Amino acid sequence: MAKITAGVSTSHVPAIGAAVDNGRTGEPYWQPLFAGFERSKQWIAEEKPDVIILVYNDHASAFSLELIPTFAIGCADEFAPADEGWGPRPVPVVKGHPALAWHIAENLILDEFDMTIVNKMDVDHGLTVPLSLMFGQPEAWPCKVIPLAVNVVQYPPPTGNRCFNLGKAIRRAVESFPEDLKVVVFGTGGMSHQLQGPRAGLINKEFDKAFLDTLVSDPATQAKVPHVDYVREAGSEGIELVMWLVMRGALDDKVNEVYRFYHVPASNTAVGHLILENPR
Ligand SMILES: [Fe+2]
Repeated sequence: MAKITAGVSTSHVPAIGAAVDNGRTGEPYWQPLFAGFERSKQWIAEEKPDVIILVYNDHASAFSLELIPTFAIGCADEFAPADEGWGPRPVPVVKGHPALAWHIAENLILDEFDMTIVNKMDVDHGLTVPLSLMFGQPEAWPCKVIPLAVNVVQYPPPTGNRCFNLGKAIRRAVESFPEDLKVVVFGTGGMSHQLQGPRAGLINKEFDKAFLDTLVSDPATQAKVPHVDYVREAGSEGIELVMWLVMRGALDDKVNEVYRFYHVPASNTAVGHLILENPR
């Protein structure tokens, strides 16, 4: 049977992708950030997942204000890097796992989560930057990836609690898939940041650190935090953190915290990162 062994959360700042693609990771501004992911690259090389379910949000690349799915799952064979205005990132095409993705879609819908099924989609920095942080610059991504997009761009995004429960439903779906597969769930976005308006550049380290603590130790409490708290404390784009609750919901109540990293700033945002394992 397929099983979820671990969860990874990380910010997906687009400038991180640009630093990788343009060979700038060793520059003084970027070096401390990328150094913080060396341990993570080692961990995932040892973990060797067969499939990553990567929870992220699309930034008007595949979707737009004309079409706003709350939850969308990518069931295609592959997903091309999106052109976000500077040409597509020079990263490998993302290979999907249609059989598992369809199984998850079917089970989630019958479990009363109304997923949008996506059979053709380009994937933007929200999905590719976490892969770059965890795998560097390989010729091909070393595992299959199922994109799971969450609307956090147009109000109202799903509640943290809905995201947490979606994670639990994803776990039920994965664990009913008959093939032996090792699955890791990624929750991406955040941490505190605001890109526009008078509070542009807002970073709240205290909020971010409390979020990391509570997400690990008491996710059911974190799941009840309303949107307005994220926006007030973590900035308008801090709402992306609800996507971390999908990852957390897919894990055991008690997890082993393997690694934590927090770094400010990266392109006016706070970068946070966790690796959590289900006890073996
Ligand atoms: Fe984002």
